[in-house]
Amino acid sequence: MAFDYTPSLRTVKEKLALGENLLKILREFKLHHNFIEKELQMPDYSMNPEGEKFALPSQEQYANELKRVESLVDAARKEGKEIVVVMGVGFVGAVMAAIVADTVDKKTGKPSKFVIGCQRPSTRSYWKIPMLNEGRSPVKAEDPEVDPMIKRCVLEKKTLIATYNSDCLKLADCVVVDVQCDYSKQELGNMRTGVVEMGALEATMKTIAERVQAHCLTLIETTVAPGTTEFIAWPIMKKAFAARGIKTEPLLAHSFERVMPGRHYVSSIRDFWRVCSGCNEEARNRVEKFLHEVLNTKDFPLTVMDRPIESETTKIVENSFRATTLAFLDEWSIFAERNGVDLIKVINAIRMRPTHNNMIFPGPGIGGYCLPKDGGLGYWAYKHILGFEDDIFKMTTTAIDVNDTRGLHVAELTRDALRNMGKMIAGAKVLLCGASYRQDVGDTRYSGSEIVVRKLTEMGAEMQVHDPYVEHWYELEQQDVYPAPGHSWARFFRNQEDLINIRVQRELPAAIKGVAALILAVPHKQYMDLDPKKIVEWAGGPIAIIDCFGILEDEKIRAYFGLGCEVKGLGRGHIQRIKENVRKGSR
Ligand SMILES: NC(=O)c1ccc[n+]([C@@H]2O[C@H](COP(=O)([O-])OP(=O)(O)OC[C@H]3O[C@@H](n4cnc5c(N)ncnc54)[C@H](O)[C@@H]3O)[C@@H](O)[C@H]2O)c1
Repeated sequence: MAFDYTPSLRTVKEKLALGENLLKILREFKLHHNFIEKELQMPDYSMNPEGEKFALPSQEQYANELKRVESLVDAARKEGKEIVVVMGVGFVGAVMAAIVADTVDKKTGKPSKFVIGCQRPSTRSYWKIPMLNEGRSPVKAEDPEVDPMIKRCVLEKKTLIATYNSDCLKLADCVVVDVQCDYSKQELGNMRTGVVEMGALEATMKTIAERVQAHCLTLIETTVAPGTTEFIAWPIMKKAFAARGIKTEPLLAHSFERVMPGRHYVSSIRDFWRVCSGCNEEARNRVEKFLHEVLNTKDFPLTVMDRPIESETTKIVENSFRATTLAFLDEWSIFAERNGVDLIKVINAIRMRPTHNNMIFPGPGIGGYCLPKDGGLGYWAYKHILGFEDDIFKMTTTAIDVNDTRGLHVAELTRDALRNMGKMIAGAKVLLCGASYRQDVGDTRYSGSEIVVRKLTEMGAEMQVHDPYVEHWYELEQQDVYPAPGHSWARFFRNQEDLINIRVQRELPAAIKGVAALILAVPHKQYMDLDPKKIVEWAGGPIAIIDCFGILEDEKIRAYFGLGCEVKGLGRGHIQRIKENVRKGSR
């Protein structure tokens, strides 16, 4: 944090501001305390999630690294390839880099692009560079296309490399920006006090503008607050170009990603509809040409907008729309629980109408990287980039708040189910099945399950976790530093310290042994047809079952009651009726 100390303080206002600054620093320091301790013992290596260590490059290595990249680029140019640098090789950038590297010239069938993935050599992220250079994917994906595509491009086609030296930007014809731009919420259930973290994007734009040649096209793929491309990134680039004596306007464009983690990761980037635009006509023409070359725009037509703010707004509205329709069902879910209605059957009946067939039950929260934050980017931009003081947002903000806190109700249901069995939540062993935010993927980012675990832990439950797709739940295991120091949802709850010891279990019978309650949080395939008899046998007796996603059919609910269990479910008000019927011995 920048702290501006001037010895000659003249006014009371200045003194007060200084006091406020100091308080801010102290608060930040407290939040980052654990992180700072770790930083002090900073290793000289970067470790991937599997625990493999990669030595960080020293300053002396930078020059040789650039020479290595330059000679590969020379060779690629001789073969007529275009040079593309992808900044940020995370979830999106690593796969986008491989898709571009896999591109062939439509006439000759020969590879037409040489791609350099560029990543800062931080202890946190450097490992992605050596892994990519070995032909190994730095992202774990359920899509079987990811690993072979990266391997093929790096080792066989030799069209993909990675580097930590950002001077590679000097060699680029096109730069694709895939760094993160997060929305950091300060309170649980109040997204209005959140802030957009522009640091990584602004730093990247500056790095690019200080290095690229005038003819290079820069394409921002990062999901940004509307207005960012034209009013933040373009001015940064123009200023740097002016300082370098470049007379032409920087060529800057925007086209957002719609990537979906899961089995169709690659095709959700390559074979999917794109929207793009440029800051000026030349940038717009160049981005259109580039996207036609690297993506399947024949089957998935490209939409070209007049201005970047329109393409940026498309992404934000698209995701806010989805977040809002999901949040909308929250109140009807409670209504159903209190009035004997099974909302799952209601939704299925509505979905028969073709116009309403994409209605989905929200489960214990929404999660994923985009839906919880994208509306926030729009909300923040209206005031802080576009300069409006009035508050026009009602639906988007409420939707995000509802989605962020929906998991808290699962904790209430678990408490009540145990109470009905004469047990207390405090000290009870509870197994949560499903840590990811979505069925049949291993992505845990902002999953509703995290809120469930944190709230129940706060209430004194002893939590255990099972998930067939997740190896490590970093949001818990590394809550001091993940997703970033001071950003864990742990800060919204008490009693969270021990959650760093949670290990995701893979064997269901062993995980269930001795639990008092089982929460079915995500409709993973493995959870869809569990046998109630086996569950009770593995647990060692009747337990409470909490269904968060309409996983249990009525027959199963009946069977659980028959075995002496208690069942509760989000939006499933008819469970009480089934219970009474089982007790009466009728259907
Ligand atoms: N992951 C998704 O499912 C998804 C879907 C659609 C859109 N998006 C959008 O794509 C963008 C990227 O998301 P992601 O999931 O790939 O994020 P990520 O955090 O996985 O990757 C970002 C990468 O950029 C790197 N980086 C940060 N600053 C840098 C710098 N100055 N120079 C070079 N590298 C730098 C980080 O170390 C990291 O590896 C976001 O705007 C996101 O909203 C993501």
